[in-house]
Amino acid sequence: MTLGPHLLSVEPGGKLAGRLRAPGDKSISHRALMLGAIAEGVTEIQGFLEGEDTLATLQAFESMGVRVERLGAGGVRIHGAGLHGLRPAPGPIDLGNSGTSMRLMTGLLAGQSFDTELTGDESLSKRPMMRVIEPLRRMGARIECSVAGTPPVRIFGGPRLRGIDYDMPVASAQVKSGILLAALYARGRTCVREPLASRDHSERMLGRFGWPIQRRDGAVCVRGEARLAGVDVNVPADLSSAAFFIVGATIAHGSDLVLEEVGVNPTRIGMIEILRRMGASIEFVNPREEGGEPVADVCVRASVLRGMRIPGDLVPAAIDEFPVLFIAAACARGETLVKGAEELRYKESDRISSMAEGLQALGIEARPTPDGMRIRGAAIQGGRVESRGDHRVAMAFAIAGLRAEGCIVIADCAMITTSFPNFLTLAREAGLRITAGGGP
Ligand code: S3P
Repeated sequence: MTLGPHLLSVEPGGKLAGRLRAPGDKSISHRALMLGAIAEGVTEIQGFLEGEDTLATLQAFESMGVRVERLGAGGVRIHGAGLHGLRPAPGPIDLGNSGTSMRLMTGLLAGQSFDTELTGDESLSKRPMMRVIEPLRRMGARIECSVAGTPPVRIFGGPRLRGIDYDMPVASAQVKSGILLAALYARGRTCVREPLASRDHSERMLGRFGWPIQRRDGAVCVRGEARLAGVDVNVPADLSSAAFFIVGATIAHGSDLVLEEVGVNPTRIGMIEILRRMGASIEFVNPREEGGEPVADVCVRASVLRGMRIPGDLVPAAIDEFPVLFIAAACARGETLVKGAEELRYKESDRISSMAEGLQALGIEARPTPDGMRIRGAAIQGGRVESRGDHRVAMAFAIAGLRAEGCIVIADCAMITTSFPNFLTLAREAGLRITAGGGP
């Protein structure tokens, strides 16, 4: 595994300008690999995210006998094994830090004829798995995990899965997708209903691979005993990575930045809606559709932000962007209140607590609640913050440097490579005064 630098330092000030392309979308890269692996024929992916999380998925399928060719700079060719062509891995499959790999692959592997064990790093080993295991057991899967409901996950091969009708208690694209992937192996139809819409990349991509979903009474349904056909996939830039620069250009005086070819799927752009309501100037230029996903160039200019009460229905579409949205809230006039975001406690770290603690260390009044946070905008001081090994927390505090009054040192940043391997280079090119190490 390639890790980034442990410590990062950001000198105060600067502005973001120019044009940049964030790396490929993590969610779409995972899904293209997974469907490509169980499709018939060849799938060629361009713009693939070469981050540690998606590479964990890639290596997992290689260990199950799928031939994958790396074509250089975001190009991957997968020789699909067909729905029943995977072979048992020689040992447990280590998925590192990647919750998406673990949740989706638990579903995909539930319908195989062989046993698999999925493991992960310290953070992944604390994340809840029962939310996906429980509905899969209803489908007839035999799966075990720790008594705490966490990895390692053991999936026993050979069950005959059956379609179910399932009302999900929480909005989660990982759970929904895990069920849909298992459903491909099941007898009959499976329908999943969510309390609020989460990202729909799996649904879109199943259509691209020739096995379209149906929508019925607010549910997503898919027929079992599927046949998928390999296809070419162009992965757009990841909005969740672009998000750091979108907030950075909004809060740093004098900024004017264009982010190219960003995926702007409506189920992902909650953070843009929130920032616009706070007063941000964000425009979509040249909107187009690529491979079934909406894409646009995103133009951002510095703006004065006002604090706001963030409505709960925008939370799922902004779920990964809250760390950097909390930085925007710290730079806004007045108070911002987030509620209905308890899911943040179950990410790579407990993001309510890691962000509240870091903001407080920088002199911001940030009060955590069980399901969100109250933040009063004020001057950001310099200081040292802990990212708790969470890539998005580390990058969010790096962006805070643009408006800080002193140097910010961020500890435990190695995991940035899970989603954004070239963050440091792009951030420097755009104008952030960031260096690896403890600063001058
Ligand atoms: C993801 C879904 C989200 C998100 C994660 C990626 C996906 O998790 O936080 O980074 O690719 O399906 P939940 O679906 O659990 O909210």
